[in-house]
Amino acid sequence: MYKNEGYWNNFYLNNKELKNASEFIKSDYLSKYNAEEYLILELGCGAGADSFYLANKCFEVIAIDGSETAITKNKALENNFVEFFCKNLSDEKEVKNLLYYVNEKALRGQKNILIYTRFFLHSISESVEDILLSAIKVNSKVPTSFVSEFRVKEDEKLYKVFNNHYRRYVDTNLFLEKFINEGFEVEKFEKARGLSPFKDEDPFLARVSLRYNLDLKSAKI
Ligand SMILES: C[S@@+](CC[C@H](N)C(=O)[O-])C[C@H]1O[C@@H](n2cnc3c(N)ncnc32)[C@H](O)[C@@H]1O
Repeated sequence: MYKNEGYWNNFYLNNKELKNASEFIKSDYLSKYNAEEYLILELGCGAGADSFYLANKCFEVIAIDGSETAITKNKALENNFVEFFCKNLSDEKEVKNLLYYVNEKALRGQKNILIYTRFFLHSISESVEDILLSAIKVNSKVPTSFVSEFRVKEDEKLYKVFNNHYRRYVDTNLFLEKFINEGFEVEKFEKARGLSPFKDEDPFLARVSLRYNLDLKSAKI
């Protein structure tokens, strides 16, 4: 079980409006990556709109969510470019195995890894974020980028369309400090409203592009 699992299963059972790819996936945070060089790992893919968008651009995509309902629906539409897996990403062993699998696959295909998350980091606790961070570092065998969009603390009091489940409003100063201390370089960062309006809601979001510095990893060993 992960936080809000029942909520998310119910959400994907009832929501039919989730087929449009996000503005983030179409933004310049993603445009420099190409399918020849990068294997995509999407975490918290939900209804899979962004995963299918990338698959349609010929990226090889491994897309993960803990919601059995979402993954079953997505799997029915799978194609040669995208594979969906139902995994509990708060389970340390699951996450380590996943990152091991993705690194081996990238090595075999001579690709780098791009970890993509949208609206996922704010749906997990900081301890789950730390599990993820550690699994990325421990298993890293190829250059790895991390591109993410998430809600920030400035969003906490703003109007929400869906407001009945757990959210963590991320303090971006602490977030960046932590990732930098753990060996990531910040390639791009912004936070603002107007990035992803939804119905009457205009959330305060951060967008970030980080790169895990493999040289720093070997220097520390
Ligand atoms: C706000 S939704 C975002 C979905 C999609 N990325 C989007 O942009 O619409 C958060 C997703 O993260 C998933 N999730 C949250 N915590 C999780 C965990 N511990 N393990 C696996 N999936 C998780 C939920 O099931 C949900 O689909």
